[in-house]
Amino acid sequence: MRGLTRRTFLTGAAAAAGVAAGPRVLRSHAQGGPIKIGVVLPYTGVYAVLGESITQAMELVFARENWTVAGRKIEMIKEDDEMQPPVGIRKTEKLIDSDKVDILTGPVHSGILMGMRDKVHNSKTILIVSNAGADAISRERCSKWIFRASFSNWQPNQPMGGWVAKNVSKDVFLMAPNYAAGKDQLGAFKETFVPAGGKLVGEDYPKLGETDYAPYLTKIKGSGAKAVYAFFSGTDAVNFVKQFDQYGLKQSIKLTGAGFLTEPDVLPAQGKSALGIITGHFYTPLLDNPTNQKFVKDFREKFAGKMPDGFACQGYDTAETIVRALKAVNGNTQDKEKLVAAIEKTEFDSPRGRFRFDPKTHNVIQPFIYVREVKEVTGGLNNVVIDKIANVTDPGTGCTLPA
Ligand code: BEZ
Repeated sequence: MRGLTRRTFLTGAAAAAGVAAGPRVLRSHAQGGPIKIGVVLPYTGVYAVLGESITQAMELVFARENWTVAGRKIEMIKEDDEMQPPVGIRKTEKLIDSDKVDILTGPVHSGILMGMRDKVHNSKTILIVSNAGADAISRERCSKWIFRASFSNWQPNQPMGGWVAKNVSKDVFLMAPNYAAGKDQLGAFKETFVPAGGKLVGEDYPKLGETDYAPYLTKIKGSGAKAVYAFFSGTDAVNFVKQFDQYGLKQSIKLTGAGFLTEPDVLPAQGKSALGIITGHFYTPLLDNPTNQKFVKDFREKFAGKMPDGFACQGYDTAETIVRALKAVNGNTQDKEKLVAAIEKTEFDSPRGRFRFDPKTHNVIQPFIYVREVKEVTGGLNNVVIDKIANVTDPGTGCTLPA
């Protein structure tokens, strides 16, 4: 050892072993550790039920793979963003800088996604968005490192504007929580509602997490609206739908909206108040395809009879994308360019239909947006398909990848 420091000895010994045994030894040495998947989701607050569904479905997929892909263990590091953008950003920094995650997933809240975007992009961390729909992420703020396995806020709403004007009413009141997703979703609805002859009789944006909608319901009542189109999710969706009914509006004003309003995460709490609500969404657990039937069965078996919702479908597709892309690169998470290329090519049968990313934006192309009505079916209330619109692709205005 004379003339050699311990450090140079180890480096030299490793190099010698590599030369003697060939490159395979070095590769497996470098990649022997677990693959770390960072998860930034709400486990408290208005959207806690969404975070829970996404997580459960991811765990279902990883458990199917025995938590091992290409010979490497999968480790999920979960962080609660508490529905607060500064907390979500801090947790993102921790996962990237301290935990050194290989892939990041989440969040639910559009504002948190917008806050995470630059850290993810500048650190070249691969992010697979498992809910937040902020349109800008598929447009002027798109990134080569960001994929979205859920939806852009535009996708479930743009087809609904024309549909509601034609099939429900031309006198509509709009409502959504006052933050980025609310503005995106109602903006997309207007894009087709107004050209179809629709008249906006009113528009309101209560705070996210509002618990008393009485002042808003009074305004709707006096507006002459024949229908309401609303985006609410989580506990906001429970409170709004129940109070809309309790206030007596359900008899005279048709309630319609983005599918999140009546997903199975909130239907049991809404009960009969949800009956008859018409919404647009890319999924319902009633879809008649083999992948979905297996997903619904496995999910219900694993999670005490719980009905999977669209958020669970997003968690499934996020984890399925990760598993397939990792297999395609033989577990090599070091070569990020190759991993991005593998994710871009990932295509499979999802519970929602054929899953693929739009290469122009890295946002999922929705095989269908289903128009659904809440009805009583075997097993309780559920979203029954009454119409559908094929291949709904975000316009991707202003996105030029690679960016
Ligand atoms: C969002 O903030 O992007 C969002 C939250 C809940 C449901 C749908 C979208």
